[in-house]
Amino acid sequence: MESLKALAIQAARKAGQVLKDRIGRTRRIDYKGAVNLVTEMDFRSERIIVSEIRRQFPEHAILAEEKVQEQTGSPYRWIIDPLDGTTNYAHGFPVYCVSIALEYGGEIILGVVYDPSREELFVAQKGKGARLNGRRLTVSKTSRLSKSLLATGFPYDLRETPINNFDHFRNFALRTHAVRRCGSAALDLCNVAAGRFDGFWEMKLGAWDLAAGSLIVVEAGGKVTNFEGRPLGLDGSHVLASNRRIHGEMMKILGMGKT
Ligand code: IPD
Ligand code: CA
Ligand code: CA
Repeated sequence: MESLKALAIQAARKAGQVLKDRIGRTRRIDYKGAVNLVTEMDFRSERIIVSEIRRQFPEHAILAEEKVQEQTGSPYRWIIDPLDGTTNYAHGFPVYCVSIALEYGGEIILGVVYDPSREELFVAQKGKGARLNGRRLTVSKTSRLSKSLLATGFPYDLRETPINNFDHFRNFALRTHAVRRCGSAALDLCNVAAGRFDGFWEMKLGAWDLAAGSLIVVEAGGKVTNFEGRPLGLDGSHVLASNRRIHGEMMKILGMGKT
């Protein structure tokens, strides 16, 4: 396990450094949808991470957001978001990260998220707790929604469907200290783990957005479910993550809106 963890950390740091060196200099932006951006740096970061993994564990399966989706029959599968926060990155707004998770037999056993701007490295190992730059993490103790700071994001199809989170956003904004929209779901999850946010919800996320960050939340003592409180499937998921204490209140509010 130590060599797997060391590999994930090394790959995340290496890709993160390249992203940091290039922020503000991205030349090419393509569109996966009207507001779903992808840059040359998403691909470059993915290539760096995938080649590190292949060099040491060529037999492992890989699910990476942009290009590489390889099934090998191995129980190990790496789930990678090479650049979470692409829209921020493309605009030079330094809130983005690299997210790498490792699954064994369908269960996430390792999560690594690296934020190059703040030089923050979040690492969680199943059953072993979560750490930020080596320091043990715990979720906040806020026990009432009315005293909470929350985070969320909006799906890329927000122009095409009424299931776009606007109603949930309003419902929470009226009942909390505030709701933030930072633009990186993996960092939002890490910030719940670090006790900076008390809760986070978002609709229609991909496995790569969630895999590492949700283990980090759980290992910091938090809770991660779907909007109904059931265990989270990794794909196409509506995710609710919290410090546990406000989970029930958040579920009630989510039940008032469109899902
Ligand atoms: C996006 C970010 C954003 C969230 C989107 C994600 P990307 O990931 O995490 O915060 O609101 O739903 O798709 O496209 O920057 O990797
Ligand atoms: Ca993402
Ligand atoms: Ca991405």
